[in-house]
Amino acid sequence: NLGFKVLGIETSCDDTGVAIVDSDRNLLANALHNQAQIHLENGGILPPVAGFYHRANMEKVANQAFTASKLSMADIDAVAATVKPGLSLSLEVGAKYGCFLSKKFQKPFIPIHHMEAHALTARLIDKKVKFPFLVLLISGGHCLLALVKNVDSFLLLGKGLDNSPGEVLDKVHRRLKLRNIPELQNFSGGHAVEVMAEKATNRTEFPFEIRANSILSCDFSFSGLVTQAYNTIAAEEQKYGTTADGVIPSAPNLCAAIQYAITRHLCRRVERAMIFLHRKEMIPRDNLSLVVSGGVAANKYISRALKIVCDTHDYHLSVPPPHLCNDNGVMIAWNGVERYRENLGVLHWDDLDSVSIL
Ligand code: KG4
Ligand code: ZN
Repeated sequence: NLGFKVLGIETSCDDTGVAIVDSDRNLLANALHNQAQIHLENGGILPPVAGFYHRANMEKVANQAFTASKLSMADIDAVAATVKPGLSLSLEVGAKYGCFLSKKFQKPFIPIHHMEAHALTARLIDKKVKFPFLVLLISGGHCLLALVKNVDSFLLLGKGLDNSPGEVLDKVHRRLKLRNIPELQNFSGGHAVEVMAEKATNRTEFPFEIRANSILSCDFSFSGLVTQAYNTIAAEEQKYGTTADGVIPSAPNLCAAIQYAITRHLCRRVERAMIFLHRKEMIPRDNLSLVVSGGVAANKYISRALKIVCDTHDYHLSVPPPHLCNDNGVMIAWNGVERYRENLGVLHWDDLDSVSIL
């Protein structure tokens, strides 16, 4: 079984990523262009703007990957690109560029599902993660819990019914005006809340409740939390005013309470899924892993709590480093490796008319 190399292209949201990974788990190139600053100035992602910047940077990012690795298309065995889900104006840039390379250099093309790629990334760096495993994806755009039975076989156990955890953290961060605090200026919402929470003096001052905790499913619901936080912040501002930064004095306690409520909900859903899978005998008793990915997986408080759940139920916890949890080309290239090895969904370069994006 000869080694092979896959080029991966990601453009589903606001990251333009191109990477090359080989079948021996070597990361040969990783180029990324992020549009976050542009969208921050616009107060959110405008799809035509995202599409414009993907188009402006696609070829440049690909060339960076080739230059850094001293490789060319001649060295590549297959091209993988995200085709769904995401913003169609973004997706089409990477998907079309991937198809173009595939046709021009006569290399097979592998359409990639973005969520499948997030779920499989851990297997690139952690050999302990074997099928089947449990995956929790928590980011600004998604929240889902699934059993990954094989490369292309997922059982969805729970999904976000409203806000994602990253969205909640970003909203609270904005409402608390944490960006006004100089040392938190360049932090993402979730990271700023995590740092503030470490300064808490009373972690139980605000007893936020997630009512969905009592609903018998593994679905996630965080929207009630945003309302509770907004109401509490308004009441605190009324009562105690704010510091010169415009931040309420109880912000650390509030951040700790929000982080705790999110963590508790995540842990309860994960534990519920573990118990369900055991009871239904849908998984073996040993060699089980929980993979946590997505931007929110960078949160140490959340991962420490999930580690306790894992230890209790004999699961191995695998959290890829942040640069692999966020959107990137590496996860697409690695998903390409996993699919190419098993010949799953690999298309001939003359047969790309069937490729549709969603
Ligand atoms: O996966 P990601 O980079 O982008 C998408 O959502 O597609 O995730 C970004 C999210 C943001 O909501 C950000 O606030 C959150 O991840 N995040 C964190 C941390 N770092 C980033 N949330 C909690 N704790 C962190 N340390
Ligand atoms: Zn993503």
